Amino acid sequence: MKKNTLLKKTIEQVLRGRKLVLVSNRGPVQFDVDAAGRRRWRRGAGGLITALHSVLTTTKALWVAAAMSDEDRLVAREDALIGLPEDDPLYWIYLVDIPPATYDLYYNQISNKVLWFLHHYLFDALRQPSFDKEVKRAWSEGYVDVNRRFAEKVAAITQDDPRPIVLIQDYHLYLVAGWLRQLKPDALLFHFVHVPWCSPDYFKFLPSEIRQKILESLLANDIVGLHSWRYARNFMHCCQDFLGCRIDLRHHKVFVGDRVVYVKAYPISISVEELTAIADSPEVAEEKIKFMKLKAKYQLIVRIDRAELSKNLIRGFEAYALLLKDHPELRGKIKFLAYAYPTRESLSEYRTYRAAIEAIVERINTEFGDDSWQPVELGIEDNYHRSVAAMSTFDVLLTNPVFDGMNLVAKEASVLNMSDGVIVLSENAGAYEELRDGVLGVNPFDIEDTKNKLYQALTMTPLERGLRANRLREIVERNDVLKWLLHQLKDIEKVSKSSAIYQPREETRDLVN
Ligand code: G6P
Repeated sequence: MKKNTLLKKTIEQVLRGRKLVLVSNRGPVQFDVDAAGRRRWRRGAGGLITALHSVLTTTKALWVAAAMSDEDRLVAREDALIGLPEDDPLYWIYLVDIPPATYDLYYNQISNKVLWFLHHYLFDALRQPSFDKEVKRAWSEGYVDVNRRFAEKVAAITQDDPRPIVLIQDYHLYLVAGWLRQLKPDALLFHFVHVPWCSPDYFKFLPSEIRQKILESLLANDIVGLHSWRYARNFMHCCQDFLGCRIDLRHHKVFVGDRVVYVKAYPISISVEELTAIADSPEVAEEKIKFMKLKAKYQLIVRIDRAELSKNLIRGFEAYALLLKDHPELRGKIKFLAYAYPTRESLSEYRTYRAAIEAIVERINTEFGDDSWQPVELGIEDNYHRSVAAMSTFDVLLTNPVFDGMNLVAKEASVLNMSDGVIVLSENAGAYEELRDGVLGVNPFDIEDTKNKLYQALTMTPLERGLRANRLREIVERNDVLKWLLHQLKDIEKVSKSSAIYQPREETRDLVN
C-alpha cells in the first residue's frame, strides 16, 4: 500500500469522525505582506513542522499556533480559520492572538531561558538560574497566560465535537492539557515532548510550584510521548518523586488516582521520500559541484546546526584544533565546513555564543592556516540546499550536542550521504539509541575523545566506512517519520477504545482554578 494511503486509512480508522487538532507554538506557516501590501504566507521551518506536515496534508486537521509576526496577529484578530492551500484546503490554521510583551515572557523568558536550559542541562549552577520576582512574573503573566489562551482556543474551535483528538507539542505548552481537560473532559489529549526529559535531580532546579504545575498538567493527558525510553523513564521518575504517583516502568504507565497515563517513546524521524526528492533538485545539484571540487583536494569534516548552545560547537572546534596539533600530517589535507545558523538572538546567551564561535574559528584559522589553506570555513546564513549538498558529500559529519532530544541531522545525513561518510555522534543525542551500531559515539564533554573519533573517522578503511554507512541508511529507511506517526496513532486508537471517562482529581482542579 502506498505510504500516504496507509497513513490516510489509519487516521480515518482512528478518528471515526472525531476532529483532529494539532497544537504547537510555531505554526506550519507564517504570514507577511508583499511589496504591494498583499497578504502571503511561507511554510515554517524545522523538523517538528516537517514531521507534522505529513499528518496535516493527509487529513483535514486543524492546527492551532501562536501568532508571531505582525501580519499573523492581524490574521488572528480576524478570528477565522484559514484553509491552506486557499483553492483546495488540506488543513486549517487558527492563530492565537498574544500581545507581544506577553509572548516575550512566555517564549523568551520561560520557554527558552528556563525550560530549554533545564531540558538540555545548560544551567551554570554557580550563577544561574536565580528565580526572582521577574521570573515568577514571566511564569504567571507569560507562560500560564499563553497556555490558557491556547486551551481556550482549542475548546472554542471544537465546540461541535465533545471528543476531539488533540496533539499538543513541546515544552512551550505544558499547561494546555490541564486547562483543556476541564473544558473538554472527554477529549483525547496527547502531549509530545520533543526535548530530552532531564533526571529528577536536575528537574529540581525548578521552583516547587512550577514543577508541580508542569507535571500535574502533563498528567491530564492520556498519553505523554517522548523521543527515547531514557526520557520516558526520567519523566515517570519525576512523577513518582514530586507527585508521589505510582509508576509501572515496564508497562509505561503512571497512575493518577483511578486514571492511567501512558508514557511512551516514539523516536521521531525524517521523511526519506521528501528528503531524497530535495536532494535530487537542481538547486542541490548546483551546490554539490562546490563540494565535489573541495573533495578533490581535501577530506571534508562537516557540521550543520543552529548556533545553539546545546549543540556544543565550541568543544567541537577545540577537538578539531587538538587534531591539527597532534596530527600535523593532516594539515592542508582536511577542511572543516561548519554551517551554524543564528537562532534565538533575542537572548544575550545566544549572541555571546555566536561571537565565541566566530572567535574560535578565527583563532584556529590564524594558528594553523596559511595563504594556501584555511582549516575552517564557517557559514552562518541559513541555506537548506547547501546543507543538503553538504550532507550528501561529507567524509566525516560531527554532531556532538551536550544533550539533544533527537538530532535529525544525523538521520538526514545517514540517508543522504553518497561517500560512505562516517558520523561522529554524541552519546547524549536521542538518535544515538537507534544509530549506535553505525556511528562513532562520542562523549560530548571529552574533547580528547572527540579528537580521537575524528581521527578514527578520517583514517577508517573504505570497507568499514561502507559497512557502517549501509547500516545507518538501512536503520533510518526502516524507521522513517511515517512509522513515528503510525505508532502514535495506533496507541491513540487503543486508548480511545479503553478510556474511562476522565475524573479530575482535587489537585488538578486546583491547577486550573
Ligand atoms: C528545536 C527543537 C524543538 C523545538 C524547536 C523550537 O527544533 O528540537 O523541540 O520545538 O527547536 O524552535 P523555535 O525556533 O520555534 O524556538
